[in-house]
Amino acid sequence: MIKDSIKEYIEKAKKLSASTKEEIENARIEFLGKKGVMNELFAQFKTVPNEERKEIGILLNELKTTVQEKIDSLKEAIAEKQESMKPKEDLTKPSNIVSLGSIHPLTTVRNEIIDIFSRIGYTVAEGPEIEDDWHVFSALNFPPEHPARDMQDTFFVENGRQDGNDVLLRTHTSSVQARTMEKKQPPIRIIAPGRVFRNEAISARAHCIFHQVEGLYIDKGVSFADLKQSLLYFVKEMFGEQTQIRLRPSYFPFTEPSAEMDISCTICQGEGCNICKHTGWLEILGCGMVDPNVLEANGIDSKVYSGFAFGMGVERIAMLKYDVKDLRQYFENDIRFLNQFSSTF
Ligand code: PHE
Repeated sequence: MIKDSIKEYIEKAKKLSASTKEEIENARIEFLGKKGVMNELFAQFKTVPNEERKEIGILLNELKTTVQEKIDSLKEAIAEKQESMKPKEDLTKPSNIVSLGSIHPLTTVRNEIIDIFSRIGYTVAEGPEIEDDWHVFSALNFPPEHPARDMQDTFFVENGRQDGNDVLLRTHTSSVQARTMEKKQPPIRIIAPGRVFRNEAISARAHCIFHQVEGLYIDKGVSFADLKQSLLYFVKEMFGEQTQIRLRPSYFPFTEPSAEMDISCTICQGEGCNICKHTGWLEILGCGMVDPNVLEANGIDSKVYSGFAFGMGVERIAMLKYDVKDLRQYFENDIRFLNQFSSTF
């Protein structure tokens, strides 16, 4: 009876086993090959009487799918076995070299400035980038009508005003002077590195975002000579022993007297060149003795204490150190520019 033999074959197919590809292929040929079981049974199927055709047809289909599924699962089992027998990774091999980025030149210079001042007792202080009028201007003796308070120079936060105190992006790190004085009595000896914002048209020499490092030293008997000597020490550490400094009288609302400091040109050593516009000098920072009004506004007795402050632009110093001609390059993150500093990593 065809029915019984199909059932036997179904049982046989279910029990098929194979441990090699050849054995699987042989089983496939036995069942599905040209002269195999399936074709044989289909030939016999033609002689099956009509009333049994449906039942036998279903059985034949069952046999065919059983065989196919069995063969597929045997193939899969062998593939898995082969995979697990592959030689394992050689764990003693040196690892692939991961290419690291480099430290941004502004970070390198900022860290160097911090390092130089920390050697003479300065610690790092910080303050918020989104500030208020008090810490950026009023506490630093800016008169109400000072032009820095103008929209042309300063980014204000819309609707940020609280109790007459505008909210704005700090235009200088001098705000950290005020934040430090209000929290602590002298002796104070801090440097404050950070990002500042000014409403300026972007060009090779100006940007709306840049970085400063502020310095503040307040104690009993601090003099202008201390300021000058501290800055001379900094400049020699930063630009080399042969570097000279020059102080020119200047004006800042929060220092009195105030000065701007030049260093002898790092390119021509003072001979005169394009970089120093043939003057032999390069301006690098603003400084001065803390105005007594600022000490008083921030709760420090100006009859007991005096101090000095200075502020420098990190981009400016990095430009001189690395001969960068366009300020915008610091912010564009062009790999060709950044790659040149990889040796500083
Ligand atoms: N805040 C000044 C500026 O941004 C720099 C400065 C700091 C000057 C401290 C004097 C004292 O230009």
